[in-house]
Amino acid sequence: MEETSVLRLLFLTSLLCCTTNQASLTVSPSSSQLFEEESVSLSCEEDDSSTGWTLRRNTTRETRTQCGAGWGRSAGSSCNINYLTQWDSGVYWCESREGATSNTINITVTGGPVILQSPVLPVMEGHDVTLHCKTETPPSNFPAGFYKDGSLIRTEPTGHMTIHHVNKSDEGLYKCDISGRGESPSSWISVTGKPKPSTSASLHFVFRLVCHLVVFCLFFISTVLMVSLYRRRPKGNYLPVSMVMTPLTQAEEGLDDDYDDVITAVTTEHYF
Ligand SMILES: *[C@@H]1O[C@H](CO)[C@@H](O)[C@H](O)[C@H]1NC(C)=O
Ligand SMILES: *[C@@H]1O[C@H](CO)[C@@H](O)[C@H](O)[C@H]1NC(C)=O
Repeated sequence: MEETSVLRLLFLTSLLCCTTNQASLTVSPSSSQLFEEESVSLSCEEDDSSTGWTLRRNTTRETRTQCGAGWGRSAGSSCNINYLTQWDSGVYWCESREGATSNTINITVTGGPVILQSPVLPVMEGHDVTLHCKTETPPSNFPAGFYKDGSLIRTEPTGHMTIHHVNKSDEGLYKCDISGRGESPSSWISVTGKPKPSTSASLHFVFRLVCHLVVFCLFFISTVLMVSLYRRRPKGNYLPVSMVMTPLTQAEEGLDDDYDDVITAVTTEHYF
């Protein structure tokens, strides 16, 4: 009886822990802009691989199509596109069977001569971010002009620009150009506030930690319970009775010491 209820509780708790799983989508190479004919690998990274996430996308021509259904080739929890075309531009995300979704990633594939390599995930406030302006054929370190929301920020002779200690005001639509080569498409760079995600992340971490501790404790308790039940079963029928009965019949005039000894003997027998 006790065993089954403990096991039921154990099962319920582990179920609760599993439902907090979240997938996150990552892309390699990590760039929101890519050239045509390049290849890319997108992965749904999750805590528990048994939940079955699928990669989906919206493009200008299709909605919610799944990896493998006309585009990409799925390989485990990854999806590879080996030969990109501009029709692969769009928003990508992972979706579970239950409809839970991951973060989304915007990918722009260009047939043009220049791309801006910018972070695919939101940049954390206070961090540095480096943008690269690249041509398809090396050398790709030409002097480049960097633009935010349509106006020139500065020209960098090396073709890359670092923004130090990013804050919310750096959020915007960025592009670059290389003189004599051309201009890149635009990409949105978003900045996430520092305190919010870190507290929710640490809360999530604490929650999972508590969950694991509870599961471990229940497992430990049920193991101890089962071991003690197992140990009691064969001896339990006669041992406590006969040993407790002896002092009562043997001597009623107060052999306290002996009685205590028997009690400790019984307890030791019970618990180890
Ligand atoms: C994909 O397209 C559908 C239909 O237009 C829309 O409801 C959905 O929000 C889009 N998903 C994303 C992540 O943009
Ligand atoms: C992705 O692109 C859509 C439309 O092009 C835009 O509304 C959205 O803000 C972009 N999201 C990110 C994370 O860049």
